[in-house]
Amino acid sequence: MSGNITFTMIKPKAIADGHMGNIIKKIIEGGFNIKALKYTRLTKNDARKFYEVHKERPFYNDLVEFMSSGPIIAAVLEKDNAVEDYRTYIGSTNPAEAAEGTIRKLYATSIEANAVHGSDSDENALIESGFFFSQREMF
Ligand code: RTP
Ligand code: MG
Repeated sequence: MSGNITFTMIKPKAIADGHMGNIIKKIIEGGFNIKALKYTRLTKNDARKFYEVHKERPFYNDLVEFMSSGPIIAAVLEKDNAVEDYRTYIGSTNPAEAAEGTIRKLYATSIEANAVHGSDSDENALIESGFFFSQREMF
């Protein structure tokens, strides 16, 4: 299965702005098969743990506050070359630099509130999927 799976979140601001339906539609249109989906909210502790790799970065505390500020959608996506293809599909971290038609270009409002998360490696895709979903919640 490794290599075909990525993990995504629709971040709180994109949910608050009413984009959840459009983003899910766009994900499906991009050829990503939804293997698991959950509407939930991160506690501050969850967000700290999820973004632990960034704990030395200057934006870490803000990011933890933001990601726990409201509900998110978590999902596991399946496609050949899922990690790389999804990162291309969502666009650059900074939406100002994101390509036309990408999810971040369409729905992000700032580098922090950049609409969606996408795993950066096959290994992290599995770790992040396991953070939110048990085997029986993946189809
Ligand atoms: P993600 O993990 O959410 O898919 O985003 P990414 O790989 O494109 O970016 P990463 O470097 O992993 O950063 C994680 C998230 O931290 C926020 N961020 N803020 N204020 C800043 O300069 C800054 N830089 C990054 C973003 O929400 C980014 O997605
Ligand atoms: Mg990242």
